[in-house]
Amino acid sequence: MVLKIGVLVSGRGSNLQAIMDACDEGKIPAQVVVVISDVGDAPALERARLKGIDAVHVDYHGFNGKTEYEQVVAGILKDHHVELVCLAGYMRIVGRSLLDAFQNRIINIHPALLPSFPGLDAQRQAVEHGVRFSGCTVHFIDEGVDSGPIILQAVVPVHQSDTPEILAQRILAEEHRIYPEAIGLFARGKLKIEGRKVMLG
Ligand code: GAR
Repeated sequence: MVLKIGVLVSGRGSNLQAIMDACDEGKIPAQVVVVISDVGDAPALERARLKGIDAVHVDYHGFNGKTEYEQVVAGILKDHHVELVCLAGYMRIVGRSLLDAFQNRIINIHPALLPSFPGLDAQRQAVEHGVRFSGCTVHFIDEGVDSGPIILQAVVPVHQSDTPEILAQRILAEEHRIYPEAIGLFARGKLKIEGRKVMLG
């Protein structure tokens, strides 16, 4: 059984690429069936089209608020029979209507070791805080900002000479490794949410 994935993006799409490649190479029993961007010229949309995957721009500003916008997004995902929604560089906070439409079926990648440095500019936050290690986190989405149950994390060192951009590159390599891995675990039914924790079976 191949898990049908919908990916929400806002920009470059390198995580989307890693996910699509892992699916194509048969590394995970999953398939990206639709990519939705809130940004019309996001390079991620072109990456999807090159793979022959439906790529849709849904303009947030074309709607009367978040609920209406998310109802349209959820409708497109449902039309494609999506079973797991992956946020990959999607820069909007997910609201109630999308959460309700895909309960415990929305995951995200964040470029820090949560619960440290949630929100925007996580790599800059880490450099400015002077931590020795940072990394990335794949987690389920809940109502908070980067606060849902954690699936996988990877650690990278932070060097004294690091700029946020250099650290971001080091973290990104790990993102591309653990995001497909986490999707593979979900696809194989290996993730069980128990309160705050995700048990790996
Ligand atoms: C990635 O580093 C991802 O972790 C981050 O945006 C980048 C998107 O890159 N996401 C967030 O900061 C979400 N809070 P990509 O478009 O090349 O995958």
